[in-house]
Amino acid sequence: MSTVIDNIGLLVTNRDEGELTDAWIAIDGALVVATGTGKPPAADKRIDAERRCVIPGFVDSHTHLIFAGDRSAEFAARMSGLPYEAGGIRTTVEATRAATAELLTELATARMAEAHRAGITTIEIKSGYGLDLEHELISLQIGERLTSEVTFLGAHVVPNEFLGRADDYVHLVTGDMMKAAAEHASWVDAFCEVGAFDEDQSRAILEAGRASGLGLRLHANQLGPGPGAQLAVEMDCASADHCTFLSDDDIDALAGSSTVVTFLPATEFSTKQPYPDARRVLDAGATVAIATNCNPGSSYTTSMSLCVALAVREMGMTIREALQAATSGGAAALRRDDIGWLGAGSRSDMVVLDAPSYDFLVYRPGVPQIALTMIGGEQI
Ligand code: NIG
Repeated sequence: MSTVIDNIGLLVTNRDEGELTDAWIAIDGALVVATGTGKPPAADKRIDAERRCVIPGFVDSHTHLIFAGDRSAEFAARMSGLPYEAGGIRTTVEATRAATAELLTELATARMAEAHRAGITTIEIKSGYGLDLEHELISLQIGERLTSEVTFLGAHVVPNEFLGRADDYVHLVTGDMMKAAAEHASWVDAFCEVGAFDEDQSRAILEAGRASGLGLRLHANQLGPGPGAQLAVEMDCASADHCTFLSDDDIDALAGSSTVVTFLPATEFSTKQPYPDARRVLDAGATVAIATNCNPGSSYTTSMSLCVALAVREMGMTIREALQAATSGGAAALRRDDIGWLGAGSRSDMVVLDAPSYDFLVYRPGVPQIALTMIGGEQI
């Protein structure tokens, strides 16, 4: 069925056409067939945008949506001065292992619907709160029912039963778990950080993932300086995520690579860490994405609008750069060229904002600005 959205005050294409005023967009099922200005073509269905702004749907390239329980007490303690530590992940592992697959599915599906309402049209989902073969598989199976961008994160932390035997756990992750995960995931990730996995362990996990046919991503330089960013470049990861603490050498390496720097500003908000300096990274020429990192420990939000606002207010990005990072940047972090832009041949994944321009995402912080989310031509 053909659809035209017309009377668009401002259409952001993220392509050579740039930003069109008095615009329309023509859709045939899951694909955009044309964009233009002036008189729109005929179509089976017409949606009047009422002079509002249309943007490509947000691409959330980093989430941990599958978990049970919450860690609100840990969050409240942090707001009173306690630091964030990776070890809190084990609390969620315990709650997730104790939950049924049905409950985990219900919880993840509800979070997914919340993300859609927030204008997210593509979402990456990691495992990582099961941390044994049985429970990682349950998470991956739920993930693949919700998205095509599923990431195996068996290397999130060393689970309790392997404490003091990290190399044995890495052996399990790179062996039996990787073999089973590769049936359900398209990516592998590792948390390369003090308190999680060191450089050699992370490299071994990425190498095993690559040998199993998975694409690579890495949690890097989140809690302090470290080897993660340069390891991500060495391994040609699609994305180095967090990148809160980057040295000049890290930035040079990332800028000279095809690894996207994915910032997760709601994490700095929720952990009270310093915000990364995105300006330095952009000025060096690296490709930048912004993602929500929705998880119960360090960033319990599906609001990409909040992330955009924080990136502008706290990280030195312009509003245009932040919008781009949340759309085409996320697509680059997933190595996708069919999303993150709008024009003939793109997927018909888009958002009608309840505002005349995308500036309002930052100008009206905390106020819902999503009038309509469309995924594959369907209104959600
Ligand atoms: O990306 N850094 C590691 N993983 C998550 C945190 C998960 C948690 O604290 O439960 C993150 O921030």
